[in-house]
Amino acid sequence: MKVLITGGAGFIGSHFVEYVLAKYPQAEIVNVDFLTYAAHPDTVERLSVLGGNRYHFYKMDICDPNIKNIFKKHAIEAVVHFAAESHVDRSILDPQAFVRTNIQGTQNLLQVARACGNPRFVHVSTDEVYGSLNPSDPTFTEQTPLDPNSPYAASKASSDLLVIASQRTYQQDLVITRCTNNYGPYQFPEKLLPLVIANALEDKPVPVYGDGMQVRDWIHVVDHCRGIDAVLRKGKAGEVYNISAQSEVPNLVLVKKLLALLGKPESLITFVGDRPAHDRRYGLNPQKIKSELSWNPQVTLDDGLKQTVQWYQVNRSWWEKVRNKDYFKYYQENYQPKTATSSEVQL
Ligand code: NAD
Ligand code: TYD
Repeated sequence: MKVLITGGAGFIGSHFVEYVLAKYPQAEIVNVDFLTYAAHPDTVERLSVLGGNRYHFYKMDICDPNIKNIFKKHAIEAVVHFAAESHVDRSILDPQAFVRTNIQGTQNLLQVARACGNPRFVHVSTDEVYGSLNPSDPTFTEQTPLDPNSPYAASKASSDLLVIASQRTYQQDLVITRCTNNYGPYQFPEKLLPLVIANALEDKPVPVYGDGMQVRDWIHVVDHCRGIDAVLRKGKAGEVYNISAQSEVPNLVLVKKLLALLGKPESLITFVGDRPAHDRRYGLNPQKIKSELSWNPQVTLDDGLKQTVQWYQVNRSWWEKVRNKDYFKYYQENYQPKTATSSEVQL
């Protein structure tokens, strides 16, 4: 099968590329990524070495209608759409970038897919579209109404609605996954886990927002990839599938677990001001994907955290490369979201 992956140079997308290359020896992957700050500079090279002639990479904006040339050239049979602006704190500072990539980019892909043979299309979404739970609330199901609080969550909810509308209006072969907070190797060190680990390894303060009692539901990134694979192969068009390992933990507890694994003192914890509209609790019910698609998570939180901490300890140069000021200066000066012209698209 020829699978087009958007955002395959990012955290989850790059794991999915690796997962598919290893699991399906016949699969061919076409990775379309605009290489924003969130794509580590080493990822494209690493994946192309892994993929050999079964792997093709295009630096391209998902908002660009010329993406259809890639669909046609490679006779794309399936799409897994990861590309997004993904960090809540950035969405509070610059919502426009989120509207552009997450909403307009998704709509562009839906139109291109429709014009190019209507391949199976998995839209990778998030539990954050459901909003926030109180401590005693039951977990979110696929029937829970959308109630996003951050610009990031609102942009993802909007893209979900566009996907649902395209499926209903044009009978496109579309499926949505909504997953909980991922952790694992290769996560950009702005998200909680890699940020805590990197700061602690450098003996810097570890920032905890508000009282640290916000609850997140954690899943190892490879379990998420297994879930997406199950939905890609067996999911029913027009359906939403929640993906969760049911590992709800308050942030402060998680941070303390990480510090213990690192052998670092809890005195590094520094309480800082809270995020505006900070969701108090996420918790997702995965019963549907478990019973209908026989998916089950395989990595326990304790094993996954141990493996993840070790990876960041061993691969220090990976995160150091993207934590220095020059890296961000480069992107501030050079990353202006724009649509590539046809002549810039190398096919
Ligand atoms: P990430 O920020 O690590 O990677 C996003 C990738 O998309 C980057 O490689 C970036 O270069 C690319 N990209 C951004 N804008 C683009 C554009 N306009 N055109 C083409 N490529 C573009 O994100 P992630 O954590 O890997 O998340 C991937 C997807 O999974 C997102 O859709 C996110 O909403 C969803 N998701 C993430 C989590 C999580 O915990 N990280 C949980 C549930 C769902
Ligand atoms: P994050 O990794 O940004 O994921 P999300 O906001 O999508 O859940 O944050 C996870 C949780 O950790 C969230 O409740 C915010 C909190 N947090 C901190 O307390 N300190 C930090 O430095 C960061 C980045 C997040």
